[in-house]
Amino acid sequence: MTYDVNLVRQQFPSLDRPAVFLDNPAGTQIAKPSLDRINRYLLECNANHEGRFETSRRSDEVLYEAHAAMADFLNASRPEEIIFGNNMTTLTLHMSRTLARNLQPGDNILVTRLDHDANISPWMLVAEDKGCNLLWVDIDVEQGKLDLDDFARALDRKPKIAAFGYASNLLGTVNPVKMLTKMAHDAGALVYIDAVQYAPHGPIDVQDIGCDFLVCSSYKFFGPHAGALYGKYDRLSELKAYKVRPASNELPYKFETGTQNHEGIAGVLGALEYLQWLGMQFGAGQVQAWREAGFSGRRLELKVGMSAMQAYEKELSRKLIGIVQSISGTRIHGVTDLDHLDERVPTVSFTVDGKDPERIADELGRLGFYVWNGHNYALAIVERMGLLDAGGMVRIGPVHYNTLDELERFGEALEKVVK
Ligand SMILES: Cc1ncc(COP(=O)(O)O)c(C=O)c1O
Repeated sequence: MTYDVNLVRQQFPSLDRPAVFLDNPAGTQIAKPSLDRINRYLLECNANHEGRFETSRRSDEVLYEAHAAMADFLNASRPEEIIFGNNMTTLTLHMSRTLARNLQPGDNILVTRLDHDANISPWMLVAEDKGCNLLWVDIDVEQGKLDLDDFARALDRKPKIAAFGYASNLLGTVNPVKMLTKMAHDAGALVYIDAVQYAPHGPIDVQDIGCDFLVCSSYKFFGPHAGALYGKYDRLSELKAYKVRPASNELPYKFETGTQNHEGIAGVLGALEYLQWLGMQFGAGQVQAWREAGFSGRRLELKVGMSAMQAYEKELSRKLIGIVQSISGTRIHGVTDLDHLDERVPTVSFTVDGKDPERIADELGRLGFYVWNGHNYALAIVERMGLLDAGGMVRIGPVHYNTLDELERFGEALEKVVK
């Protein structure tokens, strides 16, 4: 079946109202299979780990399945490589502190100005605590991309850790993560990737990328508020976790401190089941290529689902860029070349000459168009572009459940607001 956005929208009960949700980079609406999983968990399985009774056994089964599904989503080699936690930020603070145990004063850590602060501040704190140096990789301000020459120069200083993003939450730019990982590994660094903004837009393959760690958050890909961290099995095994003594020393539990958000993790499983459904409904055109790449079963369905979504989202990107550019006085910060849509997700941020981004977002909100303004925690980008005092940017973030018609209507509203 060809992609049918109306059928997709039926899977999202909260979309059944007049508002136009373009606030998705800050959190998507939840898919019905995810909601159902949360409900079912709380009604039928609600218990703690490893009890000698039915609800505890069922709870452990659901939690195991969620790890397995997440491993399939990221193409990790085994479920034990998946660690769930509150959100990406908490997981990163936890893992950075764990990795810091092996750092010495004077060691270098690479971070980039294209990143969300959740993949910068945790490393700043490590640098402060351990007497390490931060190596800042710059951005090409005109193109809104990472400065690859600067990345290579930073690697000459042999950082122990290289932390970078998969896609920018502000500009939408997608980094060439496989190439960056290879460069960083050749320089002897461990690679930590923030995939929070790429996960709702495209297929991820941690084995192909070769990264040591990768993090994402399920509330950005149609599930509940929960985070997931992938770590290479050997790396995770050799790390000493911050944990309490009675807690398991096995993976992934040694990093899943305290009692987890079980219903949230069940909801992640439901979100992944939704993405599988997407693959089964609309993925016929992509299935052969992924099968030839060696995928089968749930891994295949997830990859196909994400590819089907990605193909549709290119139409959204094209349309949105055209709409924003057609309004006089606007400037998009980031990739606008329609021949290079592979280098961006559909998140489009812009400024309007002489207008306050907050006012624009506020007036759009009143008209029923939900968008974000400011720096959106991509503080380093906004500072580097000199836009902090001017209030940052307006960010429009469609996902695969938004329609071309919604974007048309958004354009009309923006034109009015700007005038
Ligand atoms: C790119 C990126 N990284 C990290 C985060 C932080 O994610 P969390 O809210 O799960 O901590 C966000 C949140 O917007 C993000 O967009």
